[in-house]
Amino acid sequence: MCGIVGYIGSNDAKEILLKGLEKLEYRGYDSAGIAVSNGEGVHVFKEKGRIADLRKIVDGEVFAPTGIGHTRWATHGVPSRVNAHPHKSASGRFTIVHNGVIENYDLLKKEYLPNEELKSDTDTEVVVQLIEHFVETGLDIKVAFVQTLKLLKGSYAIALLDDQNKEVIYVAKNKSPLLVGLGDSFNVVASDAMAMLQVTDQYVELVDKEIVIVKKDGISIETLDGKVISREAYTAELDASDIEKGTYPHYMLKEIDEQPLAIRKIIQEYQGQDGKLNIDPSIVEAVKDADRLYIIAAGTSYHAGLLGKQFIEKLAKIPVEVHVASEFGYNMPLLSEKPLFIFITQSGETADSRAVLVHVKELGYPTLTITNVPGSTLSREADYTLLLHAGPEIAVASTKAYTAQMAVLSILADVTAKSKGYEPEFDLIHELGIIANAMEVVFEEKEDIEKIATEYLATTRNAFFIGRGIDFYVGLEGSLKLKEISYIQAEGFAGGELKHGTIALIEDGTPIIALATQESVNLSIRGNVKEVVARGANPCIISMKGLEMEGDRFIVPAVHEMLTPLISVVPLQLIAYYAALHRGCDVDKPRNLAKSVTVE
Ligand code: F6R
Repeated sequence: MCGIVGYIGSNDAKEILLKGLEKLEYRGYDSAGIAVSNGEGVHVFKEKGRIADLRKIVDGEVFAPTGIGHTRWATHGVPSRVNAHPHKSASGRFTIVHNGVIENYDLLKKEYLPNEELKSDTDTEVVVQLIEHFVETGLDIKVAFVQTLKLLKGSYAIALLDDQNKEVIYVAKNKSPLLVGLGDSFNVVASDAMAMLQVTDQYVELVDKEIVIVKKDGISIETLDGKVISREAYTAELDASDIEKGTYPHYMLKEIDEQPLAIRKIIQEYQGQDGKLNIDPSIVEAVKDADRLYIIAAGTSYHAGLLGKQFIEKLAKIPVEVHVASEFGYNMPLLSEKPLFIFITQSGETADSRAVLVHVKELGYPTLTITNVPGSTLSREADYTLLLHAGPEIAVASTKAYTAQMAVLSILADVTAKSKGYEPEFDLIHELGIIANAMEVVFEEKEDIEKIATEYLATTRNAFFIGRGIDFYVGLEGSLKLKEISYIQAEGFAGGELKHGTIALIEDGTPIIALATQESVNLSIRGNVKEVVARGANPCIISMKGLEMEGDRFIVPAVHEMLTPLISVVPLQLIAYYAALHRGCDVDKPRNLAKSVTVE
């Protein structure tokens, strides 16, 4: 949520910053800006809209070897050029970019800057003004920066320029992600290594409440209390080609297509030398040791968690609760005696999930993060991590991370079950292999799926997804995918729940997408379809080979009944994709959204 970049070296910073911001655009795309410094002042270019809009107004004539940049997802203040970052202090001496939310900005403004006229509606402008305020009281810039940071409540990742010294970028973070990248006679700053992979693969992780003085020839890290920190760089194991679209029109389509690869990679990563599935024994012990597992997640990851509960309870026979991260703090359940908290998060940065992690760690409970991003905040801060190995997911709508999350959760369930002495009655490696092949079979039917999208969803205002049992959870995910990228009001319901209210919404032609992949509920879900058809609905039944009936609109290949969500979600992802495409929506960057939600 918001992305930050910075560069200090000998080359012109502008293009490096713009390219970096393009890679971070998935984090927010309301407005963007860069500030570059060349000893003759700091030049700020900012614009409402996308990086492409910013590019148009950046003056190519200005050469500057130092700069910072920002792509915004608005929190305080509407998306506009004025509210776009960077922001300057009143005198123009300091320029800042910020990702995060300063919760006490209003109080700070009243207390320290009562007579200051702010230009924007952002919390960020208060931060840069405060720094200037402390410098004006005679403090050295670094001390003034630290003094300001100590007053801030909330989350921040900050990069700051002083127009009197183009040799330094001041950097700090708390709760929002930020990395420093090291190069040969240059250094960079980025919210995500992906942004600056174009110039370096060497990164140093920053820890909350540290500041970094970034110069062309080196960096120095200190805590806010002045303790000098030395930390080794790590190599970002990302292949630049992983983050390119290649010949695909959209990242989302590329990532949908990468799902078989991701499933095979997961099998490979979790298969031991003996050919058996294998998870770090300390994680398995922690899971076995718990008397109840609490899965915490948001959005699509929450939907994967609902299915993870099924896998773990069925195979490993450990009770599981699944909670929406943003609600957990208010509706904290009565915890069992020996809980283990499992955080499912593609990005590893979701602020709502992290808030729960911080809280339960304070309570002394063990924690496990299941994430796609090694070194992400939730991975670093949890006791244990399981990686998804799905490769970078860039489209805002999550696809391959969801199926990867389910695959990893099924492996966790299987390995724990075996370690408890239960022998699952199927070979998971074999069944996941079947899933990967089945996904490829579905891809061969893309033309037909596109027809479904145009036939049912080209002009509709709303659509409903229904299913029973685990199909219900897949319906929730299908409806989230559709609504977030096509803006069709889409909702998922348990088939049996329809008649308790929602059926009132059925009108002539209302699309109903029904999932029928479970033998035990096949007839009942079809009964629900008849109920809505009798009220004028336009049904699209997606069933599984072996359970199909006349009139079914799409049939996925047969897979193990516990794992059907991994295959039945694929046509739903594609339906959402084609519906959005045909409705002229921006598939990869839907309005109002951002990929990594780093504010609570
Ligand atoms: C939907 C989507 C979001 C995320 C949610 C959690 O397509 O991507 O609902 O699933 O914001 O994000 P992570 O998994 O990064 O914690």
